[in-house]
Amino acid sequence: MEDVMREGPVHPVKIQDNTFRDGHQSIYATRMKTEDMLPIAEQMDEMGFWAMEVWGGATFDTMHRFLGEDPWERPKVLKKYIKKTPFTMLLRGQNLVGYRNYADDVARAFVDKSCEVGIDVFRVFDALNDTRNFETCVERIKANGKHFQGAICYSLTGRHLGGEVFNLEYYIGLAKKLESMGADSIAIKDMAGIIAPYDVFELITELKKVTKLPLHLHTHYTSGMASMTYLKAIEAGVDMVDTCLAPYALRTSMPAVEPLVVALQGTRRDTGMDVLRLIALGEYLEQIAPKYEQYLAKNKLSLIDAGVLAHQIPGGMISNLVGQLKEMKALDRLQEVYDDIPRTRKEAGTPPLVTPTSQIVGVQSVMNVVVGRYKMVSQPFADLLCGLYGKTPTPVDPEVQKSVLKRYKKGKEPVTGRPADYLEPELDAVRAKVAGLAKTEEDVLTCAIYPATGEQFLKAKYGVDQGKETATTVVAGQ
Ligand code: CO
Repeated sequence: MEDVMREGPVHPVKIQDNTFRDGHQSIYATRMKTEDMLPIAEQMDEMGFWAMEVWGGATFDTMHRFLGEDPWERPKVLKKYIKKTPFTMLLRGQNLVGYRNYADDVARAFVDKSCEVGIDVFRVFDALNDTRNFETCVERIKANGKHFQGAICYSLTGRHLGGEVFNLEYYIGLAKKLESMGADSIAIKDMAGIIAPYDVFELITELKKVTKLPLHLHTHYTSGMASMTYLKAIEAGVDMVDTCLAPYALRTSMPAVEPLVVALQGTRRDTGMDVLRLIALGEYLEQIAPKYEQYLAKNKLSLIDAGVLAHQIPGGMISNLVGQLKEMKALDRLQEVYDDIPRTRKEAGTPPLVTPTSQIVGVQSVMNVVVGRYKMVSQPFADLLCGLYGKTPTPVDPEVQKSVLKRYKKGKEPVTGRPADYLEPELDAVRAKVAGLAKTEEDVLTCAIYPATGEQFLKAKYGVDQGKETATTVVAGQ
């Protein structure tokens, strides 16, 4: 039998380090402070990572809301220490780093400014895999000469790749589409950690036949399959994978880099990285661990969530469901919500469960269970059924759509165009509103994306009297 790892061309696996973004987002609720990144920043730059993910996802939200840090400063500061390794950010397409579609003028200005503060690689995704939600961002990424990584949200019809919706043809079609849009690489984004080893082998093998673009795999350890998944993806020829330093790895985070480096040593896919230096960097994260211990989930003995193999609900979504049920004094109905989610999701057009669709479907399922099916409907859920997030992978259930849109103030007819085409420009109004407060374009953009908490942050930043005002809490699902 041919040994795929020893015979054939040398093809080192490239490693993206996610410690400073998805790592602490996954295990510490995105609470890592910039100052705690600096002591190892220069050494991280020496490791030979393909890129380091340092921004995007939930970082923008938590930094200005909870950490009292200006989100725009982090890439600028890190860039002073990390001069060689490109920076990656996770961009939610037209949702940018928020939870709704923003108008094109906001999206353009946001991407331009992100390039300016030091982002080199943009991993762009859309929760519905509707590539029309990429268009405006991509235009600016390319215009700035940056790397556009088109990401495909990985979802399943059943327990494995295939079936009616999320089959090979679906992913191949998306990859070709992203390539035609000018993608510099393609990422499979498995946010729930549900991609199985032999499925990924098949997926990467088939994608390699239709595109020459580098393929990048992002997965989470949640279900426990991720190490096996990486090995099979690497055997199939995947070009890049995401990892974290060991202390920020596993659990609901990424696989750890250290065992991967050693596992591949001496093969034709050897990363060439120095495991001893990586281990030393991990020691530092162990030293600062007590500062962040309060954010670490301690409610289970198990480090993996075997349940996700059954219900496929991402970890972040489960904690939101639990919080919402607690508020409604209905925590005993969690199992009913788990049972309702697949049904509500199907009725809503089978969206992949990722921010923001995970929250939208989750919140609706909770209301369906506690109040009665569609007796109460959240605004974002109605927007989703109206087509305002984009085209869903399967058609929305016509009966549910009719009953929801009957009570919907934006109109009774669903729309089919590019979602942002229904939005008026927003930036000038925001600029006028925060004229006395915002001192930079970055400040204006912060308020454009997070109106209430953004303004509150700026008041704190500039020492403006905050009086008795409190920011409106953004409810899950918004
Ligand atoms: Co992730």
